[in-house]
Amino acid sequence: MQKINVLKMTKEDVEEVFEIEKLVHPNHHWSKDSFYNEISNNLAHYYCSKDVNEKVLSYIGVWHIFEEAHITTLAVHPEFRNLQLAQVLLIKAIEDCYKDMVKYITLEVRESNIPAISLYEKFLFESIGMRKNYYQDNGENAIIMFTQNIWYDKFKNNFQTLKENINKVEACYDE
Ligand SMILES: CC(C)(COP(=O)(O)OP(=O)(O)OC[C@H]1O[C@@H](n2cnc3c(N)ncnc32)[C@H](O)[C@@H]1OP(=O)(O)O)[C@@H](O)C(=O)NCCC(=O)NCCS
Repeated sequence: MQKINVLKMTKEDVEEVFEIEKLVHPNHHWSKDSFYNEISNNLAHYYCSKDVNEKVLSYIGVWHIFEEAHITTLAVHPEFRNLQLAQVLLIKAIEDCYKDMVKYITLEVRESNIPAISLYEKFLFESIGMRKNYYQDNGENAIIMFTQNIWYDKFKNNFQTLKENINKVEACYDE
C-alpha cells in the first residue's frame, strides 16, 4: 500500500501545486501568487499530500471564519485519482475544523462536477442553493453545499466510518 504524508503546504510546495492546478483547471486556474497569499493568511489552512519521494499528489485549502469553514480548493493530480487522496485531505481538513470548534463547512462546486459533488455527499454535505453564472470562464452555476452541524452524531459517525475505510493508501497526518 502506498504511503502518503499529509503536510501543511509551504512556499516550497507552491511550484508543484501550481503544476497540478494547471493540469486540473487548464482554462481557469489560480495563479502562483494566489497560493503564496493563501498560505500566508492566518485564516487559511492549506495541506498537500506527498508520496515517499516528496512528490505532491494533491492539495486542499480551507478558511476558518468563526464557526464556519469554507473549502476554497481541492485537487488531486489526474494520474493519482481514485486512491482516496481527496478523502484523506478532507479528513485532515475536518479534523482541523474540530480542533478550531468549527460547526459548519461549506463550499461551492460547479454543477457539472459530478465526481466532486459525489465526494462531498459521501461526507454528508448537502446542496442548499445555487449561485447563478458564478464561474467567469463559462458562466456555469455553482452549487452551494453545506454540512449539518459537524458535532452532531450523524455527521461524526459517518466521518468515523469514512476514516476507518481508508484502505487504498496508508495516510500519515503530520500535526
Ligand atoms: C473530485 C476529486 C478531488 C476526487 O479525487 P479522488 O482522490 O480521485 O477521490 P477519492 O478517490 O478520494 O474518491 C472519493 C469519492 O469521490 C467520488 N468520486 C471520485 N471520482 C469520481 C468519479 N469519477 N465519478 C463519480 N464520483 C467520483 C466518489 O464518491 C468517491 O467515493 P467511492 O470511491 O466510494 O465511489 C478529483 O477528481 C479532482 O481533483 N477533480 C478536479 C478538481 C475538482 O473538481 N475539485 C473539487 C472542486 S470543488
